[in-house]
Amino acid sequence: MTLAVIGGTGFGAFAGLTETKDHVVDTDFGPAEIQSGRLAGQAILFLPRHGMPARFLPHKINYRANLKALQMLGASQILAVTAVGTVSEDLTVPCLVVPDQIIDYTYGRALTFFDDEIHHIDFTHPYDALFRAQLLAAVAQVAASHKEMQAVLSGVYGCTQGPRLETKAEVRRLRNDGCTIVGMTAMPEAALARELELPYAGISVTVNPGAGMAERDIALAEIHEAMNQGLSWVKLVLAELLTTPV
Ligand code: HPA
Repeated sequence: MTLAVIGGTGFGAFAGLTETKDHVVDTDFGPAEIQSGRLAGQAILFLPRHGMPARFLPHKINYRANLKALQMLGASQILAVTAVGTVSEDLTVPCLVVPDQIIDYTYGRALTFFDDEIHHIDFTHPYDALFRAQLLAAVAQVAASHKEMQAVLSGVYGCTQGPRLETKAEVRRLRNDGCTIVGMTAMPEAALARELELPYAGISVTVNPGAGMAERDIALAEIHEAMNQGLSWVKLVLAELLTTPV
């Protein structure tokens, strides 16, 4: 079993990773930069989605190369970490959300490995049920000993094209559609993982109220603070996930 973590905005270098090795993996879709190492005694792969240093905007990420490269290095599960805005009034900032559904609003992204072949994947449940259940158990375990941690065990991830944030009316529309969080990177990543039959689950950190959700405009300093707090919780969940036998 090799867990791969795709890190999102703010995740930065992977603190605590030992025996690290940097790989540039050449795939049919281009190169991908991945770090391998050990965390809590387990082999792990780490792929910073926006590059290291961060330079790829969400619509410019080479999702196909990333997923293919993870498969080539032997990933058996993929945990996708994302920063998101809130769409539901019930969510606080920061808060961890383990989404169970996705609505895709992106366009013009390279979204399949099957360009020359008719192939339809089942995507009723975009996140892998078994891996997601393991993730929920790890979140519950951490929550039991960290009372300050905010976590919500389901959610609908609305994936927008970006790179700009949404208008107030767009966030209202997302809410009417049933989304609870909004981000820019779950798609086509989740679908490509399914095409490769790689179990994929997501954990999102709410870093700002979606556009129009708060009285004030979105403040960058507050986003950073929420991100750091949320990511420290994600790292606890990750350590728990790695130390719990499957
Ligand atoms: N919208 C879209 N993506 C995001 C947001 C947001 O408000 N916050 C973090 N990623």
